[in-house]
Amino acid sequence: MQVSGLTWGNWDETVFDLRPDIILGADVLYDSANFDDLFATVTFLLENSSGAVFITTYHNRSGHHLIEFLMVKWGLKCLKLLDGFSFLPPCKAASLQGNIQLVEIALDKEKHK
Ligand SMILES: C[S@@+](CC[C@H](N)C(=O)[O-])C[C@H]1O[C@@H](n2cnc3c(N)ncnc32)[C@H](O)[C@@H]1O
Repeated sequence: MQVSGLTWGNWDETVFDLRPDIILGADVLYDSANFDDLFATVTFLLENSSGAVFITTYHNRSGHHLIEFLMVKWGLKCLKLLDGFSFLPPCKAASLQGNIQLVEIALDKEKHK
């Protein structure tokens, strides 16, 4: 297995050759000013690599439906969505403000024909 770092929003030529199986992003949804850069890169890679998935965590601090909005905007879908309280140890979960969600995201092929 080969692992490469990824800088979203950076369109140097190496990005166009990437065919990832899995794109991992831990706690990368924290500044909405960067969401377009992040999802433009992630959506490009999902289109470029059939069957690829984006696995990420995000801290849902306010209970809003951020992820649903982003899925519609970018033509993506959540394959799995796990609530942090179902996998975090109680000592970690107790100190959380809001919730952590773990999501597996793929291209919504209906929207990328
Ligand atoms: C909230 S932190 C998450 C840190 C990580 N979960 C950890 O435990 O180290 C967000 C991370 O996104 C990285 N980041 C910010 N902009 C980025 C970009 N355009 N491409 C790749 N990573 C970026 C930051 O450097 C930071 O490490």
